[in-house]
Amino acid sequence: MDRAFEFVRRSTSRIVIGAGIEARLPQLLRESGAQRMVLVYDEALQPLAQRLLAALSTAKGLPVHGGESLKTLTAIADMVGRLRAVNADRSTTLLALGGGTVTDFTGFLASIYLRGVPFIACPTTTLAMCDAALGGKNGVDFDGRKNELGTIRQPELIVADTAWLQTLPDPMFREGFVEAVKKAAVLDAGHFTRLEQLAPLLHQRDAAAAREAIDMAVAMKMAVVLADEGESDRRRWLNFGHTIGHALESLAAGALRHGECIAIGMLAECRAAANVVPPAVFTRLHDVLAGLGAPTTFPRAFADADRLWSLAGTDKKARGDHVPMIVPTAIGTGIVAELTRARLAVAIA
Ligand SMILES: NC(=O)c1ccc[n+]([C@@H]2O[C@H](COP(=O)([O-])OP(=O)(O)OC[C@H]3O[C@@H](n4cnc5c(N)ncnc54)[C@H](O)[C@@H]3O)[C@@H](O)[C@H]2O)c1
Repeated sequence: MDRAFEFVRRSTSRIVIGAGIEARLPQLLRESGAQRMVLVYDEALQPLAQRLLAALSTAKGLPVHGGESLKTLTAIADMVGRLRAVNADRSTTLLALGGGTVTDFTGFLASIYLRGVPFIACPTTTLAMCDAALGGKNGVDFDGRKNELGTIRQPELIVADTAWLQTLPDPMFREGFVEAVKKAAVLDAGHFTRLEQLAPLLHQRDAAAAREAIDMAVAMKMAVVLADEGESDRRRWLNFGHTIGHALESLAAGALRHGECIAIGMLAECRAAANVVPPAVFTRLHDVLAGLGAPTTFPRAFADADRLWSLAGTDKKARGDHVPMIVPTAIGTGIVAELTRARLAVAIA
């Protein structure tokens, strides 16, 4: 299935994600206007990267070590030197091939290198196809905090072949769909119900179910991004689960993956706002996450209210002694609730 979402805002993005898209990549790149290209790719994807470099004969390839440790200013500075060494200039398009860390890193680099060069994302994980590569947010971590430095800038093109997902290990394959569940829980009851039906199939890596879930995630995210490209209002709804989830991810320092932290974070935020989240909503959310194979209990090793609050309470969204967070009040809709130190302690107990 080949779906293309096209929109114009501060810049133009075209999204083409589906089965068998790799064969169309050279043509899609030509249509996007890309000429000189540098492919920044996850070294774990060497065979795929070599195939793409052979198909794009003039592109140069620069491997990186994918993973959260890539998202640092040191790695950005190192890559600037490597771009200079291959004579990347203002007309050079940076293509990112990899998971969310490679698209976040390369998107940020493209937005600051020579004051900005064209950027194309080729996401290769379910998490990046369902979320990270979409919407134009990019950046790196700083001083132990997730995504502390970054910009919002739409890529020229997002293109991915769902066949690239075949080499993903099971836990990583499943965790991308946590982000689809997150969006549906506060934005779209129909999609949530469908994800409940698809969860066992996604758990078994059914390819058609994966394509359908990715389509839903793309449609939900881009509808919000189109309505609100900055983060002033509607876009904040995409942050469900991320206030506690990001604090946990920072505290775990690599021991837990992003999708796992968001699954745990969503359930913890619902517990923290138990006065407004009906028990039936919590149960459905818990069950669909469990059906996907995502973690649903707060890990004891990181249930440290003081350290979590020192991270969450100084989150980008924090306001004084509370952090606004979106929680569902029914499946498909929600409200802004307040996370406080006391509510956080209850949520992780
Ligand atoms: N910008 C945004 O809006 C946004 C949204 C959500 C998440 N994120 C970010 O995304 C990152 C997480 O993304 P991720 O889970 O894709 O991380 P990742 O880039 O670390 O990829 C996960 C792992 O899978 C490997 N990998 C990638 N593609 C593969 C493939 N096709 N086959 C086999 N292995 C493959 C990578 O080498 C890595 O070890 C986090 O840094 C998070 O903050 C950003």
